[in-house]
Order: sequence, then C-alpha cells, then structure tokens
Amino acid sequence: MKYLITGGAGFIGTNFIYYMLEKHPENEYVCLDKLTYAGNLANLKKAMEYKNFQFVKGDITDREFVFNLFEQEKFDVVVNLAAESHVDRSIENPGPFLTTNVLGTQVLLDACRKYGVVRFHQISTDEVYGDLPLDRPELKFKESDPLKPSSPYSASKASADLLVLAYHRTYGLPVTISRCSNNYGPYQFPEKLIPLMIINAMNEKELPVYGTGQNVRDWIYVTDHCEAIELILEKGRVGEVYNIGGNCEKRNIDVVKMIVQKLGKSEELIRFVKDRPGHDLRYAMDISKMKEEFGWEPKVGFEEGIERTIEWYKANKEWWKEIINGEYMEYYNRTYGHMY
Ligand code: NAD
Ligand code: DAU
Repeated sequence: MKYLITGGAGFIGTNFIYYMLEKHPENEYVCLDKLTYAGNLANLKKAMEYKNFQFVKGDITDREFVFNLFEQEKFDVVVNLAAESHVDRSIENPGPFLTTNVLGTQVLLDACRKYGVVRFHQISTDEVYGDLPLDRPELKFKESDPLKPSSPYSASKASADLLVLAYHRTYGLPVTISRCSNNYGPYQFPEKLIPLMIINAMNEKELPVYGTGQNVRDWIYVTDHCEAIELILEKGRVGEVYNIGGNCEKRNIDVVKMIVQKLGKSEELIRFVKDRPGHDLRYAMDISKMKEEFGWEPKVGFEEGIERTIEWYKANKEWWKEIINGEYMEYYNRTYGHMY
C-alpha cells in the first residue's frame, strides 16, 4: 500500500512516520509538508534513509500541485495531519487556519475523489466539541456530541470534519476521522505548553501560566495516539468518528509543577499571566468506542511520559536551540511580552 502522510514534518506527523516505518515496513510512505515554521525537515533525517520513504515539499492548498502528485503516485491511503495547529496563533491571525485546515482539506478530498483511495483519514481534535465545566467531572465528550468550537483553530478543525463527513455521505468517499486530546512527547514545537515549560525551566526563564492554571487538559503520549491511528486505518469503519484520549486529566498548574520538580528547579519561576481569550476550561474524552471496537487503551502513564519527554529535550538541545533562535523568539515576545 502507498501512503500519503501530510504534515509529516510536524510533531505528530514525525512520530507517526517513525511508528509506521517500524511497524509496517511493507508499505511505501510519501510525506507532503509545506515546512511552515512548525515543520522541520531535520525531524525526518533518519526516515530519509529508508528506501520506502520519500519527502515532498508542497502545500495542500495548491490544487494543481496536489493533483499532479496524486496522478504520479497513485496513493492508496491518505492521512491528513497537515494543519495550522496552535490556538494562540489562530487568535492572533485566523486566516492561515481557514486556508490550510479547511480549504487544504477540501483539495485533498477532491484529489481522493478524482484518483480514488481506499481510505482518507482526517486527524482531528477534541477541541471541536468546545469545553466542559470544571465542576462536572462525570461529563466527557462522546463522538455523537454536537460540535461547539471556541477558537478560530478549533472552528477550522470542526469545519474540516464536517466537510470530510459530507464527502462520505455525498460522494461515498471512504473516510474516517479521529479526534484526539492533547499530545506530548518528542519533536513537539516549543510554543505548546509542555515543551515550552521544559525549555524555559531548563533555561531558568519564567513559566507563563495562563489565568489561574486551573484549566484541565487530557494528556496522551504521542505514540499512544499513533497506535490508535494505525488501528483505525486497519479496522475502522468508514464514515465513523473515533475519540482518542489519554484518560489523563490534569490541571495546567499541576503539569507545570511536575515539570519543575522533575527538572529540580524552583516553583518561583512560575508566573500567572493574562488568560487566553475564550480559554476552554476542560477537555475529557470518552474513549469507550476505541476500547469496544479495537480493545485500544493508552499505555504510557503521565509520569513515565513526562520523564521520557524531558529526557528527549535534554538529549536534543541542538534541535530546540535552532528553533528558539529563529522566528520563534519574535512570536514569543509578541505573545508573552504584554501578558505580565
Ligand atoms: P504541528 O503544527 O507540529 O505540525 C503541522 C505540520 O503541518 C507542520 O509540519 C507544517 O509544516 C505542516 N503544514 C502546515 N500547513 C501546511 C500546508 N498548507 N500544506 C502542507 N503542510 C502544512 O502540528 P501537530 O501538533 O503535529 O498536529 C498535527 C495534526 O494533529 C493537526 O491536524 C492537529 O490539528 C492535530 N491534533 C494535534 C493535537 C496536539 O495535541 N498536538 C491533538 C489533536 C489533534
Ligand atoms: O486538545 C487538543 C489540542 O491540544 C490540539 O488540537 C492543538 O493542536 C494543540 O495545540 C493543543 O491545544 P491547547 O490549546 O490545549 O494546547 P497548548 O499547549 O497551547 O495549551 C495547553 C494548555 O496550557 C491550555 O489550557 C493553555 C495553557 N497554556 C499554554 C501555553 C502555551 C499556558 O498556561 N501557558 C502557555 O504558555
């Protein structure tokens, strides 16, 4: 089978490519990535050594380019991870989120219709459901819940989900969607909570916690997400949505304190800063469908996952130093400069 993996030079895409190269060497893989600020070709250096892996630089919104690629390569399976993915950047400038996340998905769906695939899989997010209150721990998102996104990012992801389902119903395209909670692990761009806190703490820099730090996220180690995608590709029923989560709800402040403690730093580095506008309070996933259909459950506990992640950032200082020396610092100063 020939796979197209879009957005494979980003955090989850990179992890997914290595996971699949290891688990399914019988397939061929093409990674299509625009290499935005979040994409990093260096992530795929080892993948380039595999004969069954190929990298193509390109934009999923470029219809002519995408159609030519499909014509040449004749993909069997498409896994769409390409996206603008950071909520704070979507609040600053929603345009690129709509272009890539909605129109880019449409281009891929059209190419799949024209050239034919056995599966189009859309990587989506728990954020499409909106948020849950902090004082109702029994509530969790189910696949059948209405979509109620809060940010331009989550609205663009919800729009893409609706489009994917419409292409199934109207054109019979064999699609699946997975909606996952917050991932963490190697190769995550340091604008996201966990790598940002690890790197700032290592550098003895302030740790900016939005609002009161009570917001809750459901954390999943990235390889558990990869395994869940693999199962949906193998056994998922077309037209279906699958929730993926870590069964691991944590308040932001507790995550930050754990990182501080594991790195042997002082909690005095923590600063409570201006809240994110429209900040979702709590996410929690009901993952019983994944368990009932495939026997899947997340395997990596939070403590183990955080330790592995910290070790990776300690061992790969060159990787993140390169990033924080570039456009990242401008973004950081723009975003955090006025928050204190
Ligand atoms: P990321 O920002 O690290 O990577 C996104 C990748 O997409 C980058 O390599 C970027 O260069 C590429 N890209 C962006 N625009 C493109 C375009 N127009 N054409 C081709 N490539 C383009 O994101 P991530 O955290 O790895 O997320 C991957 C996917 O998973 C996204 O769809 C995101 O919405 C979803 N998701 C992420 C999480 C999470 O916690 N990180 C959780 C659930 C779902
Ligand atoms: O839930 C899945 C989503 O998780 C994905 O769809 C998104 O692509 C991914 O970016 C992530 O979104 P979040 O907004 O939850 O992740 P982020 O790492 O930006 O923030 C996690 C929480 O930490 C959130 O409540 C905001 C807070 N936060 C974040 C940053 C960057 C802080 O308190 N301080 C910070 O500096």
